[in-house]
Amino acid sequence: MTTLVTGASGHVGRAVLDALVAAGQDVRASSRDAATLDVPDGVAKVSADLEDPSTLESALDGVESVFLYTQRQGIDGFVKAAEAAGVRHVVLLSSGATLEPKSARSRIARLHRVVEEALIAAPFAETLLNPGSFATNTLGWRADIAEGVVRTPYPDSRVGAIHERDLGDVAAKILIDGSHAGEALQLSGPEPVSFREQAAILADVLGRPLRVEELTPEQAAERMAALGWPPEVPPEILRAIERTTREPSMVTDVVREVTGHTPRTFRQWAEDHRADFA
Ligand SMILES: NC(=O)c1ccc[n+]([C@@H]2O[C@H](COP(=O)([O-])OP(=O)(O)OC[C@H]3O[C@@H](n4cnc5c(N)ncnc54)[C@H](OP(=O)(O)O)[C@@H]3O)[C@@H](O)[C@H]2O)c1
Repeated sequence: MTTLVTGASGHVGRAVLDALVAAGQDVRASSRDAATLDVPDGVAKVSADLEDPSTLESALDGVESVFLYTQRQGIDGFVKAAEAAGVRHVVLLSSGATLEPKSARSRIARLHRVVEEALIAAPFAETLLNPGSFATNTLGWRADIAEGVVRTPYPDSRVGAIHERDLGDVAAKILIDGSHAGEALQLSGPEPVSFREQAAILADVLGRPLRVEELTPEQAAERMAALGWPPEVPPEILRAIERTTREPSMVTDVVREVTGHTPRTFRQWAEDHRADFA
């Protein structure tokens, strides 16, 4: 059984790929430019652009299951190509935003929901992964950490940030055994940890002091705009972060229920990523 891992260069995609390879599965890895992919021995590489379904036929040839990134443009073409190829199960990296009570007003939720709905309507099985915050978001602190500081809005915001390897383990388990078909899985790390505590853990793991400097929401929005985020997104994200100063983000036990192991802590994530902050 061949599994296609889209976005194999991505943090989560790579973790899915590694978990499947460790389990001895037959895996094909895709990127928009396969030449840039560095994959383990024995893994086939293929170029595929989810926004351009004409590139998907060869990527999906002989594939039974797919790990899919959310890409609204081209999702209908993906569904057709996957059906034609005889795909039986797609595991989608979606977002916890679609499960939030006010998700109808959320641009982030709407983007993901279009893809979720296309897969739910498709003739093959789907499993939706709906994680909250990623621990990898703190990689955005690298430039500031090089200066000995963590600059963040709402430093006392508490999130149950999830390790990409836990997402990889969950996706791989489901891709291998075909379980959880038709389900939406709300995924998180093991406990809420504030940004201030994340900074302290990173300081401890990196062995150097890190000062926390609070950004105003306006300063944070300016930084996001400079990174090219569409203008309506920063206010939505900042509102969500502000909410978690009052009530921590949802923590679930789903990683353990699916994989049998407890989700990795933020400290474990920091130890795994020490070199990224060198
Ligand atoms: N950050 C969070 O807290 C959070 C929380 C919940 C959900 N999410 C969701 O998680 C996803 C990000 O995951 P990540 O951190 O693993 O991302 P990442 O490291 O930035 O990787 C993104 C991957 O998407 C692939 N990609 C981009 N456009 C593509 C296209 N048109 N066709 C095929 N592949 C394409 C890229 O592959 P190539 O460049 O090699 O083609 C890359 O491998 C987003 O969908 C986000 O909404 C994030």
